[in-house]
Amino acid sequence: MTGPRTTVRPTLAVVGATGAVGMVMLQILSQRADVWGEIRLIASPRSAGRKLAVRGEQVEVVALTEEAFDGVDIAMFDVPDEVAERWAPVAAAKGAVVVDNSGAFRMDPDVPLVVPEVNPHAVRTRPRGIVSNPNCTTLSMIVALGALHAEFGLRELVVSSYQAVSGAGRAGVETLRQQLSLVAGTELGTTPGDVRRAVGDHTGPFPEPVALNVVPWAGSLREDGWSSEEMKVRDESRKILGLPKLPVAVTCVRVPVITVHSLTVHARFQDEVTVDKAREILATAPGVVLCDDPAAGEFPTPADVVGTDPTWVGRVRRALDDPTALELFVCGDNLRKGAALNTAQIAELVAAELV
Ligand SMILES: NC(=O)c1ccc[n+]([C@@H]2O[C@H](COP(=O)([O-])OP(=O)(O)OC[C@H]3O[C@@H](n4cnc5c(N)ncnc54)[C@H](OP(=O)(O)O)[C@@H]3O)[C@@H](O)[C@H]2O)c1
Repeated sequence: MTGPRTTVRPTLAVVGATGAVGMVMLQILSQRADVWGEIRLIASPRSAGRKLAVRGEQVEVVALTEEAFDGVDIAMFDVPDEVAERWAPVAAAKGAVVVDNSGAFRMDPDVPLVVPEVNPHAVRTRPRGIVSNPNCTTLSMIVALGALHAEFGLRELVVSSYQAVSGAGRAGVETLRQQLSLVAGTELGTTPGDVRRAVGDHTGPFPEPVALNVVPWAGSLREDGWSSEEMKVRDESRKILGLPKLPVAVTCVRVPVITVHSLTVHARFQDEVTVDKAREILATAPGVVLCDDPAAGEFPTPADVVGTDPTWVGRVRRALDDPTALELFVCGDNLRKGAALNTAQIAELVAAELV
């Protein structure tokens, strides 16, 4: 389905403009080539009247209501699942194309799940008027994997994530900062339970202390001990790559990093692979940076990757026991490519159709 064609620049609504993803979205909209007419900022009634900067101007936030979508061509949703579930169909019914960052519609067969570098064609078929943005963990690796899949034909994925706290929104960031202030300058981390006692009940959206710790859990409990985040990585990778039966094994882990998700990836392909060919593909794939010189101490880490747009890949090795498999270390900014940037790229694809 395509929306109405217009000769003027499309009007964009950013729903959830005050959140962790929304704030990064406003920066990205201020930095990218400006294809928009009005940009309308929408959040909960709690934020109505607040002013936020976008494209160098202060814009007042309005409360989420049906009228807020009057005249809107494209509406980005950066809000919790239940808010998107209720309001995205409202915006679509008012004629806006919705680009939704939440998990509410990603696995709906009538909603495309789009990564512009991997499956841009999918954006054009949107029977519900909604396009979904993948979750941040999947997005942090899928551009690199899409490029390798196009050449080698992916057959299996084994992935472990090292996820930043901003993946859990503002509350995640506040929790880690508060915990760090409680443990900084102490000798904690030497006896069982000492970090937990210092942090007390301040575990925020995480089941365990995240400062001075790693927590093998992200999301909510699903069947047979899997987490929702792990199921998302599996289901969404399959949908984006068009490989509905791809075997995917995932373990998601939270680490004390503010922003940038990292992943170790074991990817098995159809035939034998070479590191040279893999490096050539990764070095030239749009949206990917190869940073791989261990002899010089060069590999991607969140401390350097934060605030950047590409998917960074290092530690490229052929599996020791399988000539058809590669081992990779991948880093991506979960708030930029992992959320706001990919949404902005999708919205630009739709805007190009409308104008
Ligand atoms: N953080 C990530 O790395 C990441 C990555 C990919 C996707 N996502 C998804 O993106 C969405 C936003 O995540 P986030 O991390 O930005 O969350 P967040 O920091 O908690 O922000 C939530 C936003 O939603 C708004 N909101 C909440 N309840 C609302 C309501 N009833 N009506 C209208 N607006 C409401 C909030 O407005 P107020 O400020 O007025 O409360 C705020 O703007 C979620 O679905 C999340 O799963 C997040």
